[in-house]
Amino acid sequence: MAKSEPKRITITAALPYTNGPIHIGHLAGVYVPADIYARYQRLQGKDVAFICGSDEHGVAIPMKAKKEGVSPKEIIDKYHSIIKKSFQDFGISFDNYSRTSAEIHHKTAADFFKKLYSQGDFIEETTEQLFDEEAQQFLADRFVTGTCPKCGYESAYGDQCENCGSSLNATDLINPRSTLTGAIPTLKATKHWFLPLDRYQDFLKTWILEGHKTDWKPNVYGQCKSWIEEGLKPRAVTRDLDWGIPVPVPGAEGKVLYVWFDAPIGYISSTKEWAAREGKDWKPYWKDKDTKLLHFIGKDNIVFHCIIFPSMLKAHGDFVLPENVPANEFLNLEGNKLSTSKNWAVWLHEYLEEFPDMQDVLRYTLTANAPETKDNDFTWKDFQARNNNELVAIFGNFVNRALVLTHKYYDGIVPTPAELNATDLKVLDTLREFPAKLSDSLERYRFREASQELMHLARLGNKYLADEEPWKLIKTDTARTQTVLFVALQIATALGVLSEPLLPFTAKKLKGILNIIPADTETDREQGPHWEDISTRETLLSPGHQINKSELLFRKIEDKEIEAQLRKLEATKQSNQKEAMTPAPQKDTISYDDFAKLDLRVGTIIAAEKVPKTDKLLQLKVDTGLDTRTIVSGIAESFSPEEVIGKQVTVLVNLAPRKLRGVESQGMLLMAEAENGKLIFVGPDEDNSTNGIPIS
Ligand code: 2FM
Ligand code: ZN
Repeated sequence: MAKSEPKRITITAALPYTNGPIHIGHLAGVYVPADIYARYQRLQGKDVAFICGSDEHGVAIPMKAKKEGVSPKEIIDKYHSIIKKSFQDFGISFDNYSRTSAEIHHKTAADFFKKLYSQGDFIEETTEQLFDEEAQQFLADRFVTGTCPKCGYESAYGDQCENCGSSLNATDLINPRSTLTGAIPTLKATKHWFLPLDRYQDFLKTWILEGHKTDWKPNVYGQCKSWIEEGLKPRAVTRDLDWGIPVPVPGAEGKVLYVWFDAPIGYISSTKEWAAREGKDWKPYWKDKDTKLLHFIGKDNIVFHCIIFPSMLKAHGDFVLPENVPANEFLNLEGNKLSTSKNWAVWLHEYLEEFPDMQDVLRYTLTANAPETKDNDFTWKDFQARNNNELVAIFGNFVNRALVLTHKYYDGIVPTPAELNATDLKVLDTLREFPAKLSDSLERYRFREASQELMHLARLGNKYLADEEPWKLIKTDTARTQTVLFVALQIATALGVLSEPLLPFTAKKLKGILNIIPADTETDREQGPHWEDISTRETLLSPGHQINKSELLFRKIEDKEIEAQLRKLEATKQSNQKEAMTPAPQKDTISYDDFAKLDLRVGTIIAAEKVPKTDKLLQLKVDTGLDTRTIVSGIAESFSPEEVIGKQVTVLVNLAPRKLRGVESQGMLLMAEAENGKLIFVGPDEDNSTNGIPIS
């Protein structure tokens, strides 16, 4: 149940991996909404701890280090400083931004593990795990990829399928391959510590399924429900790896904590670091029952924040649980999935250089089009339109007209109104409704809706000026002109106060121009009219108050700026295509004896149908000359079932059967990939050259 008035609010934003910079997907999914919420709650006078830091463990880091030919330490230092600076320049108002390589974190995470260990909360077990003989390394998480047993996605990782969100164990993957060497892993025994999630099944069921049915977002609740109903299994929380926090118990040499065990504890260590610096006690922010704990994350992090971390907190015993986990869906870029490795992204540090002093434009665009309930697309054209048609044409235009006319007619002094007429009173009444409307949206994590409410307030002002036309009235009715500008300045003041969570740079600038905060201070509660004053105070900006010189709040974005960004993306696309067309290097030599083991036959496809709920899989009946058998093949994106019936194709008939999406596949079709990425059959009917591209 949602608590009504918490004493303090601990807001965490997912700790970003330091294997690359921050892009717009991270911002839209996590950091912009979290920052809006933190700023909003601070404006309400709440005691807020807004916590984040860099996630510097896990296999993503050594992998990136290997790729760049440097040490993992160099990678984390490099990206930690890029990320930290870009957040700061973008105005994400963390109270603390720490890192998981910090000593305080190593100690906090190790102590957490030791407490659970001493309470007997882990299962210690030796099991067979995937091992890469060539790299002499155990394979888990991102070191191994293969087909997801749940959805058939072929590039699932050893801990998670990014396609269907399932959380996996590496040994669940079908056709696993090492991402280090490409080798097919063997199985080797190793000891690990497991968190028996099955022991928390009942607690999670009561806490989430019964307790948060109405206040958690449907996407979050739905994912939790399906995991809980499927039945939770013990999950390894240690890894055989030389990068991470050493497992702090006897007999664990060479093993580290699983990154998803230590990273969320990073929220606690970062809070400790902040509290020590500020001379506060960190404990109430995590342990007092009057604390509202919130985790802002992307949808791929739901299981870790709703199932695993709460089970850890529960096991530990004296922590509060998250009251909400308002996870977002994903943002795409110009129709394609954002990708760090493919450089398909708008990088925050580059944006800040290319669009200096335009942080709020990106914040606004990402909020107005936030992927709150479904995946959404960022396009540069939409960015330009949101800026030119909304921020410039409505918000900026209204404020600018009110300020410029006040300077022109009254030397920048707020005029004394004559008697307010019905229109003025109605506009001011409407104005007084906005704090509650915005609060309602923000309290329910509906940031898109809040951004549109704010724009409605600017529209109210814009329409008022357009209807009243003070630039005409000045010639005929000076008293009325004074009244109209007085009213317009009240609306501008409300915009300055209420826009702070969504557009903090604009709010600061506007409040400086209105002279309601000293120009060089941060906007905070101590200065100027407050949020609640907008609905309760008769006058927000008094007659006789001197305002400062006017400046434009927003500038128009020209077509050529957008074209330059689109050209940059096109160049990325071309370079990715070129790379994809580079023939894969020849694999290691095999002996004739190895080859002779393959039993290849020419078969005929006699029936074909799509495997339900997959994009890639066709279920085929193939006459091999020996028998008629079922083969499931990942060719549905290249061929319809009708196209393949009757085709002759080479079949590997002695491959061990495997289940794909519940269907047993009894062999494999030999296909090749053409330069355009399309699959072609390798069979007696075909006249194809494979151009050195490996048969897949
Ligand atoms: O998905 C990610 O980018 C992770 N680094 C998020 C970690 S959130 C937390 F638990 F620290
Ligand atoms: Zn999947």
